[in-house]
Amino acid sequence: MKEELLEQGAMRDEEIRERSLQLRLRAGHQIESEEEMTPRYREVLVQTMLIAADLELMTLPSYFGALCNAPTLDDKISVASAIQDEMGHAQVMYRMLEDFGMDAQELIMGRPPEAFKSFELIEQDCGDYITCVVMMALGDRAGYTTTRDLEANCSFGPYTRSLRKVNYEERFHVTHGERWVRHFWNHSPRTRERVQAAVDLLFPMAASWFGTPDSMKKRTDQLTYRIRGLSNDELRQQWLNEVVPFCESVGIRIPAHFDTTEGRYVLSYEEPIAWDAEARQWNYENRITWPEKFAHWKKGGPIKRAGLERIQNERWGAALW
Ligand SMILES: [Fe+2]
Ligand SMILES: [Fe+2]
Repeated sequence: MKEELLEQGAMRDEEIRERSLQLRLRAGHQIESEEEMTPRYREVLVQTMLIAADLELMTLPSYFGALCNAPTLDDKISVASAIQDEMGHAQVMYRMLEDFGMDAQELIMGRPPEAFKSFELIEQDCGDYITCVVMMALGDRAGYTTTRDLEANCSFGPYTRSLRKVNYEERFHVTHGERWVRHFWNHSPRTRERVQAAVDLLFPMAASWFGTPDSMKKRTDQLTYRIRGLSNDELRQQWLNEVVPFCESVGIRIPAHFDTTEGRYVLSYEEPIAWDAEARQWNYENRITWPEKFAHWKKGGPIKRAGLERIQNERWGAALW
């Protein structure tokens, strides 16, 4: 009986701490140390930072092919510099996870590839410079949309401050991507075709970057705790507001448009759609179920396993990353 009462008391204390934290967060309070967190807040924050760190790391294998095949020394330097930026972002984020008792070395070198929480978009092999600049215009733009929201709204002070530099650099990647997408679109019929092909492949993956629609999301802890400020749909909308006018100004065909009835940019298809591996294109007509889509994401993209295994096993950069 006494134990039961003690247990109930402990639960009540926990509930009171939880509620007072949420009230303080709602009033705009910034968290500076672990002591101020409840276990739930801590868990949501750590998960958010871990996903962000894994996404940064995954850019190395994704952009590596483009580094090798870049047509000029200037282009090589640009890709190398973007990869270095991304590794710096990863370093900052894994390092911050050490403050929460995690071991960065173990997180990067010790986890099996399937345990990394990257997304389909960044598990693609850019392979060549044109695909890489399309990735920057669409994909870095998606990442930048998320990290800008985190910098502006995240309730964990050390994280928002660390994102200042990250966002400077992301902006550079996006601008670089857009500049060269426009260049290759106007350079020759062959390069224009290649820009369009890369957009056809990557656009739906970039739109998926922000996750499932709000209507089916059960857990909104990230918003309750103001880890993020904007929901999945709001972030996707922000991204569409930026990429659709850009693509339209270049002349690139995309599966998104301005809906005059709704008064906003919308996708021209309904999720979830299937990737037709044989035809190597998205099948917009034949919709799949969400469990099928989740299974597809879980399998990982073409370079997830190989890329991470290479990071974990290659000694001394022998094959010159
Ligand atoms: Fe980054
Ligand atoms: Fe980037």
